[in-house]
Formats: sequence, C-alpha cells, structure tokens
Amino acid sequence: MEKYHIERNTVQETLVIPLYGRKVCAEHYPELFEAREAARICDSLDYDFTEKGKAMESVAGLFGAMEVAQRHYDLLWEVRDYLKEHPEAAVVNMGCGLGDSFSKADNGSCRGYSIDFPDVIKIRNDILGQGEREDNIASDLLDFRWMDKIDSSKGAIFLAAGVFYYLKNADVIRLIGKLNERFPGAVVVFDSCNERGARLMRKTWLKEADIDVSAYFSVNNSSELESWNIGSKKISERSYMRGYRDIFSKVSLIHKVLIIFCDKLVRMKIVKIELLGEQK
Ligand SMILES: C[S@@+](CC[C@H](N)C(=O)[O-])C[C@H]1O[C@@H](n2cnc3c(N)ncnc32)[C@H](O)[C@@H]1O
Repeated sequence: MEKYHIERNTVQETLVIPLYGRKVCAEHYPELFEAREAARICDSLDYDFTEKGKAMESVAGLFGAMEVAQRHYDLLWEVRDYLKEHPEAAVVNMGCGLGDSFSKADNGSCRGYSIDFPDVIKIRNDILGQGEREDNIASDLLDFRWMDKIDSSKGAIFLAAGVFYYLKNADVIRLIGKLNERFPGAVVVFDSCNERGARLMRKTWLKEADIDVSAYFSVNNSSELESWNIGSKKISERSYMRGYRDIFSKVSLIHKVLIIFCDKLVRMKIVKIELLGEQK
C-alpha cells in the first residue's frame, strides 16, 4: 500500500494531531467516539506516530486527544444542525487537513468544499478522493480568491477545527470580515481558547513546529469577540467539552478536573458567528 509522506516541522504536519487523537480516543472510549476513518487514514501515512502515541498515553495527553475528538463532534453537530434548515447548503471546511466532517455530515444534497495548502490537498485527493458534490481547493485561506469557488446560493456554513491557532488574530478577523462581506446570511463555526490555552497547546503538541506564537489567535473573553470589526454579526458560544453533550460522568476524576479547568481557566469554546453582512 502506498504511504503518503507528511513533512515534519510544518503547519501542515499539525493535521496528524486531530487524526491520531481521534483514533486514540476512540480506542479508549469506543462508546463515546467513533474514528474508523481517522484510523484508516493514519495507517496510510508515512509518519512516525511513536512520539505522539507516547504523549497521548499520559493523563494530559489523553485529555488532549479527548479535546480534539470532542471538537470534531461539536462542529459536526453544528453542521448537521445548519443542514436541517439549509439541506442544499455549502459546507466549507477551512483548513480541512485530512478530516472527514463533510462525508459524515453529507445528507445527499449539500455541497462540500475542503480548503488547505496544496501539499495537504494533494494527499487528501489521493486518500479521501472527492465525491460529485465535493471540491477540494488548494489554497492558503488568506488568499481570498478561494471564496470565488463557493456556491452559497442555498446557504453556507464555514467551519474551522483547530485551524485559527496557526493564524494571527488580525488575519482571523480579516478572514471572517471577508466572509461576512461575501456571504451575508452564512454561519461560521470554530473552536477557540484563551491565551493561556494557546500557550499550553503549543507546549504540548507543537514543540517541533516552527511557529512564532506572539500575536496568534486566542479569545480571552466574549467582549473581545464582540469588538471584532467584521461587520454585523450575531455571536454565540458553547463550552467545548460540555456544550454539546456531557461526557463528564463517563471520564476519570482527573479528566473531570481537567474539563473544569478547560471550561473555567482556558475558556475552551465553540464559537458560532451568524454573518449579517452590512457595513463595518
Ligand atoms: C490542526 S490541523 C486541523 C485539521 C482539520 N481541521 C481537523 O480537525 O482534522 C490544522 C490544519 O490547518 C491547515 N492550515 C493552517 N493554516 C492554513 C492556511 N493559512 N491556509 C490553509 N490551511 C491552513 C493546516 O495545513 C492543517 O491541515
């Protein structure tokens, strides 16, 4: 079987974290998480998972895996919810990596767009392919020409799972502002945490990645979101670990403590912004 190489020390390499995390989490908690496709994709990569595997054996590491698996669940919930009212909408996965959210949410009539850097899209095309209502778009998210390819005539939901941490705050604001200008009426959903969380995440998972942390995305409180100059908007937030379903009773005491820590001190949220267009 051909194995697909993932270059180390690149932002693209970060796509293995949610994939492998979901696989590990499903092994530990099969009643809570399902990740057969993620496991298949991990098997087809030419990537040494030993170090990540070891890290995920620790209590904190397994919690990290739980976080990415729960985030996948939360954002999928949002997409499915949106599709109930807009069954033919565009589902736009920004910084898709090798995630399979579209195929999981696919209701047979929506349209999927998956955007990532060219080398990621090349591997995605080979491993996951592209269905007839699906487009894989090779582009930097900050090169807004990719937006020309999105058919939002039946509505659009834009999701970003674990992606904005690799962009500067100002660029995230610019990106969402542009989405508001181009796709009024659409919805954007993404995960966020405060600066402490962003620092912790980098320390745990991104030691190898050559990323300058200053000025990168984080959200310290809801008034920060409200102050974003992105045009008219309606913002709501839910707890990342407990806002969509409560796995609290199913996890160990130490993981319960970490869930509370993440809720209260790291401010891990899923943010939903309804784009209302209009002037900034
Ligand atoms: C942590 S991974 C998350 C992948 C996927 N969303 C998931 O949950 O499995 C971050 C992804 O964002 C992509 N990414 C980061 N910055 C990007 C940018 N400026 N343009 C396009 N993709 C970007 C990376 O290449 C990588 O695939």
